[in-house]
Amino acid sequence: MLEVRNLTKVYGALTAVDGVSFVARPGEILGYLGPNGSGKTTTVGMVTGLLKPTSGEVLFEGKDIQEDLRAYKLRLGYVPEEPALYPYLTGREYLELVARLRHISEGRLGEKIPRLLELLSLPDSFATIAAYSKGMKQKVLVAAAILHNPDVLILDEPFSGLDVESAMVLREVITDLARDGKTILFSSHLLEVVEKVCARVLILSKGRVVAEDTVERLCELQKQPKLERVFSELTAQTDPVTTANKILTVVKSGG
Ligand SMILES: Nc1ncnc2c1ncn2[C@@H]1O[C@H](COP(=O)(O)OP(=O)(O)OP(=O)(O)O)[C@@H](O)[C@H]1O
Ligand SMILES: [Mg+2]
Repeated sequence: MLEVRNLTKVYGALTAVDGVSFVARPGEILGYLGPNGSGKTTTVGMVTGLLKPTSGEVLFEGKDIQEDLRAYKLRLGYVPEEPALYPYLTGREYLELVARLRHISEGRLGEKIPRLLELLSLPDSFATIAAYSKGMKQKVLVAAAILHNPDVLILDEPFSGLDVESAMVLREVITDLARDGKTILFSSHLLEVVEKVCARVLILSKGRVVAEDTVERLCELQKQPKLERVFSELTAQTDPVTTANKILTVVKSGG
């Protein structure tokens, strides 16, 4: 079980994450939602142990992750929002590097990596990641995150740039991993996917949790048919048509 207690991150005058608490249980995909700038990636940074909280704590299986960050990271898989890859390695070289850091034996990585490259339609050639398309880079990130069959999976916009088929495959993979008892935190703007895969969702607004429940209960409570509408209400989003019209007025104004 992954438990976040009163997690806070302050940048100067801005409190990016403000007293966030939640529990993600094994076998469950917890949706972590919020508008741009609401604090999702900042939370993810702290939950992965890459970013130090200003206050609050993250516990895995009841133990503060800071006590043994190395051990925690070996059980963690993470798809970051920004693809932080080594561009001059090939996909295979990058995955081999990650596999070794994950203590996967040479024999096993020799079997796993070519299979994963093939299943993800990634080239197993001399092409370096610098020459990969956006979606191909994303697939490498996903493969690197799940390669060691981690117990905790933290996904920050994992579908970014994936084509329709790859997105469907990834959806199946994460659903199955949850079924296997993995703990999954899934941050995304793709509410249609979230609705389908998440047992519970948590909605952030300006660094604070404004709702946490199952999708059905949230829709019921807000008397709305779709998560999208619940999200707009809870995060006080402006009417998109009005905003679009205002933007077009600005763009079209003057000579
Ligand atoms: N290193 C930093 N220094 C200063 N402010 C930061 C830093 N990182 C994030 N912030 C601020 O913290 C707030 C939350 O940012 P964060 O990246 O967590 O949002 P997000 O919910 O992931 O947004 P998005 O949906 O756009 O990915 C923003 O106002 C952002 O400008
Ligand atoms: Mg983000």
